[in-house]
Amino acid sequence: MKILASLMVAGGLMTASFANAAVDADAAQALLKKSDCFKCHAIDKKKDGTPYKEVAKKYKGKADAEDKLTKHITMKPMVEIDGKKEEHKDIKSKDPAEIKNVVQWILSL
Ligand code: HEC
Repeated sequence: MKILASLMVAGGLMTASFANAAVDADAAQALLKKSDCFKCHAIDKKKDGTPYKEVAKKYKGKADAEDKLTKHITMKPMVEIDGKKEEHKDIKSKDPAEIKNVVQWILSL
């Protein structure tokens, strides 16, 4: 009976995390802050990097948007800042769900 109860609790937790498909904006912004992303990207003001709202616009309706952005923020591609090439910063998380949440939040803007 005890085992059955804990299985039910574990099952309940799993359902909760799968069901939580909606974007968690607070978690996304907290992770972007922790990763220093706001140093170069604001939500709607131009800094060294494109504002996230414009990124969202650029990728709107593109099927590979999530894939492209995920790669961009995890694989350190080269970008140009003030005419100099440097590695783009990567996100400070190894959790695919957290990274996906950030990407989906940017695309939702
Ligand atoms: C040192 C400045 C700098 C930092 C810090 C930085 N970026 Fe960027 N980012 C850029 C530049 C420059 C580009 C390329 C030109 C552009 O799209 O603005 C870029 C591009 C992007 C793009 C657009 C990619 C595309 O294909 O259009 C996204 C999304 C992005 N960055 C997210 C992030 C995230 C998330 C972080 C934090 C982990 C971050 N950036 C940190 C400068 C920065």
